[in-house]
Amino acid sequence: LQTLPPVRLAQKYFQIFPDERDPLWQNPCHDKRHKDIWSKEKTCDRLPKFLVIGPQKTGTTALHSFLALHPAITSSFPSPVTFEEVQFFSGPNYQRGIDWYMDFFPVPSNVSTDFLFEKSANYFDTEVAPKRAAALLPRAKIISILINPADRAYSWYQHQRAHQDPVALNYTFHELLIVDGVQLRSSPAQVMDGIQKFLGVTPYYNYTQALTFDESKGFWCQKLEAGRTRCLGKSKGRKYPEMSLESRVFLSEYYREQNVELLRMLKRLGQPLPIWLRDELHNAS
Ligand code: A3P
Repeated sequence: LQTLPPVRLAQKYFQIFPDERDPLWQNPCHDKRHKDIWSKEKTCDRLPKFLVIGPQKTGTTALHSFLALHPAITSSFPSPVTFEEVQFFSGPNYQRGIDWYMDFFPVPSNVSTDFLFEKSANYFDTEVAPKRAAALLPRAKIISILINPADRAYSWYQHQRAHQDPVALNYTFHELLIVDGVQLRSSPAQVMDGIQKFLGVTPYYNYTQALTFDESKGFWCQKLEAGRTRCLGKSKGRKYPEMSLESRVFLSEYYREQNVELLRMLKRLGQPLPIWLRDELHNAS
């Protein structure tokens, strides 16, 4: 039997199967053959049960920090590069493989009750992310936050300015909860109750007690002892002038068609409509 040397063999292989140049990591525990050749020390329990997929600037950091307060919910470890986000399914990190991803999670102490999760706000608008996430985590629950796209765009603009620097609802592969980002901002405890129900996580965590509105921050924050609070950092909930009426009118019109599409899709999926979406389309018509 004759064969080409490894590198040339690989070149030949990828010439014949160009689609396989990009790997698609499957869950090793879903195929007995894969599991059998996997190291005994590794466990698929070290993978998230749910993902918060963004999009950016909708309150994902707030949701991440509120979730992390829950005794049965455990977030991924922070990354030295991308902070609270792992950004595995969305970028070059994907090439680093499953072990790299799993190292961001602790081995859960109780597999059936511990909820591991990660939040990476750019999964929402990365086209390959749904395919990749569905291959590795077909049973994961998905959470996405939506706010008025005009407000999101304006928040993003402020974000870019702050950085001195010159967003697709994909099909669910299990179940999708849409969080109204305006409500997350104004009544987080109520939203967190809905999320606990959606996840089926126990014990019930009382966010009405855990959070308090901080007048000087102008946002809901974690309540600490002796009337103190722990709010998100300066870069979340920035102070900036309100959007001008002119920009508001322009952006409302700009996003009108997409908002109508979104309304149709949410109705088709039998999903509740975010209040901001009703208001937006009501005002525009
Ligand atoms: P602004 O800074 O433009 O107000 P993300 O974490 O996804 O980047 O989103 C940032 C946005 O989260 C902030 O945008 C802010 O409006 C919103 N937000 C919602 N709840 C918040 C909270 N409790 N503390 C700070 N920001 C919050």
